[in-house]
Amino acid sequence: MAAIRLTTEIPGPKSRALAERRLLAVPRGVSQLTPVFVSRAEGAILEDVDGNRFIDMAGGIGCLNAGHGAPGTLEALREQADRFLHTCFMVTPYEGYVRLAERLNAITPGNFPKKTILLNSGAEAVENAVKIARARTRRSAIICFEDAFHGRTQLALSLTSKTHPYKAGFEPFCGEIYRVPYANCYRCSYALSYPKCEMFCASVLEETFRKVVAAESVAAIIVEPVLGEGGFVAPPPEFLATLHDICRRHGILLIADEVQTGFGRTGKMFACEHYGVAPDMIVTAKTLGGGLPLSAVTGRAEIMDHTDPGSLGGTFGGNPLACATALATIDAIERDGLCARATILGERFRRAAFAWQRDFPLIGDIRGIGGMQAMELVRDRNSRTPATEETKRLIQFACKRGVILVAAGNYGNVIRLLMPLVISDEEFDEALSVIQGSLETVCEAERVGAQVVV
Ligand SMILES: Cc1ncc(COP(=O)(O)O)c(C=O)c1O
Repeated sequence: MAAIRLTTEIPGPKSRALAERRLLAVPRGVSQLTPVFVSRAEGAILEDVDGNRFIDMAGGIGCLNAGHGAPGTLEALREQADRFLHTCFMVTPYEGYVRLAERLNAITPGNFPKKTILLNSGAEAVENAVKIARARTRRSAIICFEDAFHGRTQLALSLTSKTHPYKAGFEPFCGEIYRVPYANCYRCSYALSYPKCEMFCASVLEETFRKVVAAESVAAIIVEPVLGEGGFVAPPPEFLATLHDICRRHGILLIADEVQTGFGRTGKMFACEHYGVAPDMIVTAKTLGGGLPLSAVTGRAEIMDHTDPGSLGGTFGGNPLACATALATIDAIERDGLCARATILGERFRRAAFAWQRDFPLIGDIRGIGGMQAMELVRDRNSRTPATEETKRLIQFACKRGVILVAAGNYGNVIRLLMPLVISDEEFDEALSVIQGSLETVCEAERVGAQVVV
């Protein structure tokens, strides 16, 4: 039986009524990527307020790798809710926080003593990692990358790359932040090609230390092991290791932002494992909470312990409900083999996407690692002109046909897959056939120069 069930036009009347109320009550700056309002969700399926059922290929932007209501999470949540909701870990601690810290210390890459602080959002965790790095090294500069996304609070936003819609108008940004190109081989900032480039984008950092900021002023390099918002760019195998070597040479800390890549998405628990690199600090969020707001910084014990009591924390960081769902989520990922499942789903997508690429000139690049897969849409394969409008239309078509998709990339022209990894083969194939149908419609409209009414 098909997973998708559409009983009204999309959006239906109840979603439309809620959208009108939303418009009056919520600022425009909070985008609405999908026109339907959700009423319930399970596994990889969303049901909207009009009773339509969708396959969720966005997973709350990568927060639901273990699925909506993953096995064990709701039970853990109820069990914790029956006992207490909040005390503030800094005032009267509880075991869930400690257990989760122990668990993250154990499962993150790096065979050395670690400690973990829990926070509420990816941005907050990024900010804490930067604070700790600066305190530990007594240096102030941070190096980050083009196409990076690290969040929307002021320091995290200063590290984020994309100007529109994220940064423009929110100046001034924090000081001592230096940005260098990422290993984005499809759109290389140096117009080089791999492997002939010999990883110029990483080794050129030594030049940056001569011309832009002295190495001994740099506290940390913060990097996404695979770009998330930046377009699902998996760098060549030696990129991270080269950065790590440069860091070690100069006493700079390496911070890996695994907010989007973590918890099985790439086919391993953490993307750094693909690259054989154990960063000094690793930032996690999204799927960590299994749907509840939770983030973490896990790092070398001597680094994490550097600052004095009271210098780190927050009222709600490591909320007991979120700790309970996090522990159950990690259990589910391990017990249900979701890392291996991510790899299988990724391969299934790649087979379909490479076949589509033969028929649809719109598909410029297909890339990714494990279940973190994407296709970049271009108006012309030679010039690689981004097909931003076509990407928007494709997402709208897919939604009308029962599949929720989200875009990524500096030009908003990348379709990325962030489906719950518990999606069944049948649901996944159904979603792929909707994507194919939507590609056909967009490409046909392009061919005949027609305006498509979505
Ligand atoms: C890599 C990365 N870092 C940080 C963040 C910010 O996380 P949050 O939205 O929870 O603040 C995101 C969010 O998409 C992300 O993808």
